[in-house]
Amino acid sequence: MAAASSAGRSSPAVNGKAYTIVDHTYDVVVVGAGGAGLRATLGAAEAGLRTACITKVFPTRSHTVAAQGGVAASLGNMGPDNWRWHMYDTVKGADWLGDQDAIEYLCRNAPDAVYELEHYGVPFSRTEDGRIYQRPFGGMTTEFGEGPPAQRTCAAADRTGHAMLHTLYGQSLRHAAEFYIEYFALDLIMDQDGACRGVIAMCLDDGTIHRFRAQRTVLATGGYGRAYFSCTSAHTCTGDGNAMVLRAGLPLQDMEFVQFHPTGIYGAGVLITEGARGEGGYLTNSQGERFMERYAPHAKDLASRDVVSRSMTIEIREGRGVGAEKDHIYLHLDHLDPKILHERLPGITENAQVFAGVDLRRQPIPVIPTVHYNMGGIPTNYHGEVLTLKNGDPDTIVPGLMAIGEAACVSVHGANRLGSNSLIDLVVFGRAAGLRCSEKIERGARQADLPKDGVDFALNRLDRFRHANGKTPTSALRARMQRVMQSNCAVFRDGPVLKEGVKKISDIWSDSADIRVTDRSLVWNSDLIETLEYDNLISQAAVTVVGAEARKESRGAHAREDFPKRDDQNWMKHTLAFADDTKKTVRLDARPVHTNTLTNEIKYIEPKARVY
Ligand code: FUM
Repeated sequence: MAAASSAGRSSPAVNGKAYTIVDHTYDVVVVGAGGAGLRATLGAAEAGLRTACITKVFPTRSHTVAAQGGVAASLGNMGPDNWRWHMYDTVKGADWLGDQDAIEYLCRNAPDAVYELEHYGVPFSRTEDGRIYQRPFGGMTTEFGEGPPAQRTCAAADRTGHAMLHTLYGQSLRHAAEFYIEYFALDLIMDQDGACRGVIAMCLDDGTIHRFRAQRTVLATGGYGRAYFSCTSAHTCTGDGNAMVLRAGLPLQDMEFVQFHPTGIYGAGVLITEGARGEGGYLTNSQGERFMERYAPHAKDLASRDVVSRSMTIEIREGRGVGAEKDHIYLHLDHLDPKILHERLPGITENAQVFAGVDLRRQPIPVIPTVHYNMGGIPTNYHGEVLTLKNGDPDTIVPGLMAIGEAACVSVHGANRLGSNSLIDLVVFGRAAGLRCSEKIERGARQADLPKDGVDFALNRLDRFRHANGKTPTSALRARMQRVMQSNCAVFRDGPVLKEGVKKISDIWSDSADIRVTDRSLVWNSDLIETLEYDNLISQAAVTVVGAEARKESRGAHAREDFPKRDDQNWMKHTLAFADDTKKTVRLDARPVHTNTLTNEIKYIEPKARVY
């Protein structure tokens, strides 16, 4: 479904083949219709800007729909809470790699962002007295880590993302945002001054090429979980925006930090929300022991995700895993009142039955740490403006380009994200991006002509893959990449294994020259789209494993067995990674962590040992 547009059409030839090009001009173009993309679309449209949202799937099928447990905000509905405690937990959860100005922005704006969602119509679960229901989540505490667990995660049963997505889509339509649904973004249009002037996309149902010119292009394209073999992410999570940024010669930040969620269903990878442990669920090993009591005596099963994932992995390695292969762990909910399961965890009750054949009222669920989230992404400030390294300044704003949501690295999650801080990141920074657009641009302002060759790069790449005539099917290359990432860049990492991973990913990247696409058509060509997605994934896999090999310390989700300690002296800095797609090489640089807060209402939170 395409929105009506006052577009012009042309048919230039690329390598002798004609492509129909349709031109569009908007004030703001958002790429991606998950929670962040929709919140930004809504904000820009509400501010009166001519706004388009391009999405490769129908908006309510975006991956945010799979977010279960909830959205963090210190509403204090279930006990005392404070945005400063939320900020402390987030800084600590991030293992001091987060930018504290951005974290302050996130936590202090979180309550308003959630009330706004409530007013838009998100059907939150309720307390007896009608307020938004909040559950405990890992790493969320009170009194700057000294008090009892915080009940901070606002929930719509265990379908919070689903509820948010439907509400935000409805609101965006209400404000007359225009949607280009089932359009695949190919590349950014960059001008000779390094400014982003828009984006090129392909309409999947007829193969027409669409050239969007915009004052601001906002990437809300999500993470790249599908670089791994087993992940909770949808098949669509291929980090298309991240890859476009790399191809534009811009860096990605902190890509070595990949989060494993402790409770993916064994074998299927499907998420079992942390909210299950928030409601009282617990993990056991083959001896029936609640082993988290040993690893995190205070927070136990509600320690932060990296800590729980590592503890489970140690249990399995030391022979205390469950099942015939002793290669997973049990999550128990069978002791909970069935009424709680029915009211608060209906989605996972169904998923456990469908994907593990388990009746969780009676049986434990087999679970295993599973790739879930990318802390790294496109570097931005807290307004959502994309940053790059220019003339020695790593905080140089790229004119015209913004990024939000999992695609972005603001950086509020640093080395490890706390559960339920993702949904709040989507709405707080989606909202911030809309606000920034309304502050900085004028509706209908005249836009200079696009560079004459603005479409060539994207079309040449498209055409090269469309006619790729090698011997290796895309699926074979993708499977190789996913297996290497799964085994060489995992929960625990080690120098020699990472070095081998760098070599293997580099080989696969080079072998991509031999790729074969069999379908040459332009109508619903899934062979071609999967190839473009694979090409997006492989450059991200490369910067991830190269960054992981280079970082000689352990911090958050990056656990090096050969460098088991955090090293603030040498490594309290963001990694910036640039990729050369022609030479298949990665270059690393660095960017300082922001140690300033946004206001003097809270002081810089000094680094200390991270124990739960
Ligand atoms: O466990 C969960 O419900 C996932 C939440 C999150 O990743 O924030």
